[in-house]
This record gives sequence, C-alpha cells and structure tokens, in this order.
Amino acid sequence: MKFFIDTANLAQIKEANELGILDGVTTNPSLMAKEGIKGHDAIMNHYKTICEMVDGDISAEVIATDFNGIVEEGKKLAAIHPNIVVKVPMIKDGVKAIKWFTDNGIRTNCTLVFSAGQAILCAKAGAAYVSPFIGRIDDSGWDGVQLVEQIKHIYTIQGFKTQVLAASIRNPNHIIRCAEVGADVCTCPLDSILGLLKHPLTDIGLAKFLEDAKKTQ
Ligand code: G3P
Repeated sequence: MKFFIDTANLAQIKEANELGILDGVTTNPSLMAKEGIKGHDAIMNHYKTICEMVDGDISAEVIATDFNGIVEEGKKLAAIHPNIVVKVPMIKDGVKAIKWFTDNGIRTNCTLVFSAGQAILCAKAGAAYVSPFIGRIDDSGWDGVQLVEQIKHIYTIQGFKTQVLAASIRNPNHIIRCAEVGADVCTCPLDSILGLLKHPLTDIGLAKFLEDAKKTQ
C-alpha cells in the first residue's frame, strides 16, 4: 500500500517525506485555503513547489464543475509537472471530463466518492485513482473501510485498473484497516501517519533499555 499525505502544508509534507515512507500528496480546495494559498498564480506555484519536494503523484483539484471548465483547468494543472494528477469531483460532467482526460493521456483522481456505484463509473471512465472518503462515511453512521473493501473486490473481479485511494483518513486504525482490505493507497494527515509509530510498551521498553545501558558504560 502506498502512503500519500493529505495536506497542502509544506512543513508537514517535508516531515513525512524525510521519514522516507512518502509516495505522494493529495490536496483539495479546503486544504489549500487552510494554508492561506490565494489566487491563481499562488495556487499554481504551490503545486509546483510540492512537485519539487516529493517524487510521487501529486493530486491537484479543479474548481470548475462544468465539462469545458474542468477540462481547461485540468490541462493547466497537468502542465505544471508530469507527476500532477488532476482531481475531479464525482459529478456527471466530472465523469465526462475524466474520460476526456483518459483519452488525452492526463491522469485523474476522482474525488468525493461515497458509493460502489460511483466507483464503477470512475473506473469505466479510466480514472487512475478513486477516492472514497472513509472518515466522512463513518461520520454519517456507515463503515467507510467496508466501502474500500467492496470497491477493491469489484475492481479485482472486473479487472479494472483504477487504484483505490482511501481518503478522509482520521486515525492510525483507519490506515491499518485499509491495508487489511487491500487499499492501493492511503492518503493521511501527518498525525495519523505518526500515530502508527506509537505504542506505550515501546516507550516503556526503550526507557528500561536506556536505564540498563547506563550500567554497561
Ligand atoms: O482527501 C480528502 C480529505 O481531505 C477529506 O478529509 O477529514 O475533510 O473528511 P476530511
């Protein structure tokens, strides 16, 4: 399973990258706004900076919601760097645009996916990635990881090549459960990635080893 970081924060991207386990980055308009990135040039420059920092796929989301607008915006985003993946919302014109991008050699990540039916459409249109939103499904009283498992099962038996990218990850257990059900990618906040490191017995054990090591000096 690949690890992407789900943020537009350069310090967090740097920290995850330096850990040596980072395979890519996903962003969205909310994450860009959180960093105070404002205006066309600033947004394009920010994506360029992320592409220069991380050697992996970088998802950049379109704002347009009509076919022509999505295509025009996606072409500009894709021109920033070969690693840019154009993130397109799961709407009717989005599906049409994903097919257009597929036919024109531009990779896409279909976002805001909450059902297996939506995931089938993403795959049929040729999306490189489908992004089911695990945490938001859990918030609404369903099981987000179960959807990842269902999509993965459908894609496997149907031979679809679209990679299942588990998004809206909220905690380390989401990452573990997504790995168990065969997600191709997990895109996570830095806290959830670092949360995988933690175990109280590791801390207690290390403290004891360091204490005993003093006796050997
Ligand atoms: O990748 C999508 C993600 O950023 C949404 O996460 O926590 O806002 O549901 P969240």
